[in-house]
Amino acid sequence: MRTKYKKWANDLLIERQELSPTNIDDNLFKHDKIILEIGSGKGDYLYKMALRFPNYYFVGVEKNSTCAGITLKKIIDNDVNNAIIISKDINEIILDIKKSSIDGIILNFSDPWPKKRHHKRRLTSNNLLDIYYDILKKDGFLNFKTDNELLFEDSIKYFNNSKFKIKKIDYDYQFDPSFDEITDYESYFRNLNQKIYRLEVVKE
Ligand SMILES: C[S@@+](CC[C@H](N)C(=O)[O-])C[C@H]1O[C@@H](n2cnc3c(N)ncnc32)[C@H](O)[C@@H]1O
Repeated sequence: MRTKYKKWANDLLIERQELSPTNIDDNLFKHDKIILEIGSGKGDYLYKMALRFPNYYFVGVEKNSTCAGITLKKIIDNDVNNAIIISKDINEIILDIKKSSIDGIILNFSDPWPKKRHHKRRLTSNNLLDIYYDILKKDGFLNFKTDNELLFEDSIKYFNNSKFKIKKIDYDYQFDPSFDEITDYESYFRNLNQKIYRLEVVKE
């Protein structure tokens, strides 16, 4: 599902920098409850969650600028006032996020990077898990959904080798709306009747 370059989306990111900052600003940390979604794609999850949970501040990070611009349009069109989108690779900004400042991290349908030599690029790789652990508050959580069984199985191993505690493993996730929304990729896979895998971990 390649996204073609769209000039309007890239222009919008520049026009509305108050909603699409290019770096982590200290003002971010004045928000009480922050959810960080990494690889937010075209933003369906981000803007719907922000509308449903106004007491949280949602920060999307997306390296594809056209996808980030599409997300920004959804934030604007739906009058969302508790979400921003940062158009960057997470690796460029994650070390600027304060330790123990984030309530939850969301990884939805992260790129699987199937070749062994590319595993270190996975968003669940151990290097990133250590940083996620540091930026989360105590009792902070990380929720991970994927259609990719191999990535899921490997990720369970990565989490088992990390400081996180695995709280829930679901091999056929049926959707629990209590703190979740369907993502763009998820709609596609659900329409194909493909299984969705889900993991919840916590920083104790
Ligand atoms: C398969 S898509 C899933 C998009 C969305 N989460 C969904 O479920 O519909 C993965 C997304 O993660 C983004 N991504 C991958 N690696 C990233 C990174 N290191 N930093 C930020 N975004 C990343 C990709 O550009 C892509 O938009």
